[in-house]
Amino acid sequence: MRRESFETLYFDGKQLVMLDQRKLPNVSEYAYAANTADIYNAIKDMIVRGAPLIGCTAAYGVYFAAKESKNEEEFLRKCDYLISSRPTAVNLKWAVDRMKNVAIKSNLDLNEILKEAERIKKEDIEANLNLSKYGASLIKENSTVLTHCNAGALATAGWGTAVGVIKMAYNQGKVKKVYADETRPRLQGARLTSYELIDYGIPATLIPDSAAAVLIRDKKIDAIVVGADRIALNGDTANKIGTFALSVIAKAYSVPLYIAAPLSTIDFNIQSGDLIPIEERDRMEVLDPQGCGDLIAPKNIDVFNPSFDITPNENISAIITEKGIIYPPFIENIKKLKDRD
Ligand code: MRU
Repeated sequence: MRRESFETLYFDGKQLVMLDQRKLPNVSEYAYAANTADIYNAIKDMIVRGAPLIGCTAAYGVYFAAKESKNEEEFLRKCDYLISSRPTAVNLKWAVDRMKNVAIKSNLDLNEILKEAERIKKEDIEANLNLSKYGASLIKENSTVLTHCNAGALATAGWGTAVGVIKMAYNQGKVKKVYADETRPRLQGARLTSYELIDYGIPATLIPDSAAAVLIRDKKIDAIVVGADRIALNGDTANKIGTFALSVIAKAYSVPLYIAAPLSTIDFNIQSGDLIPIEERDRMEVLDPQGCGDLIAPKNIDVFNPSFDITPNENISAIITEKGIIYPPFIENIKKLKDRD
């Protein structure tokens, strides 16, 4: 039977149970977090990853932080510690701030705090389903779609964003085929998006990142749909490294590039992409992508490993959210959406 989604995390009454994404697709195993430090490490080491899922995980982290703290000062320190686990995905701060509000208002009432974390998880799945309905309307009949990294169910509490849009359009009979960029160096496209697409029964082809340009030039791609880690008020978007290059090629050959993300990914405090912090990760991710000790380059070579890049708003055709599709000019239309909220 075809799978519809994945359960990426759940609270079992004592601990947060998380599908360990470092091991997929070969091993499907769960990892456990029972305190704030475990949650911090799960996010930092990418047991869980993807902006919305990082936010959901951190929400449960706030529950542990409240449980462990003797006073509000200690609690707030732990919340800041959680936010520092990964710098680019704004969903992390968004979720911690939302949880903090409930925690302070309720005087650190653990029941109330846990309920809010469960609500954030539930709302994430609902938002993904809604944005996917909007996004599917942008996909034309008989389309071949390209995606980068993993913005599927595995990157969220369930269903997915960019892959959610593709899945919805496929279920409506509009998607002929999907190309998945392998996404160096952590290979989220190869390991996770391929795995999801196969399980959903969607015809998919895995490509090295560098093959995308040729497919776009040769008119083999009708639309590109990707996720986001942080969207600035002018529409500039941080997403997995390689998205910027893809957007330049897409624009040169007039292929639409859509960003699919919940409103929790919009940073209403940041005017433009140059203000978004870009995470640089360990050099070993590039030298030893499988983490097996078999280096693919000399161990003393200098390495630059930015995890994200900024796609400028002029390369983005539309931003798909759970409240509707935002078209350029983004600066006006993001503001309108916010004011409507
Ligand atoms: O480093 P990762 O795997 O957390 O990066 C994930 C991405 O860049 C995704 O495209 C983004 O978070 C959106 S996930 C719905």
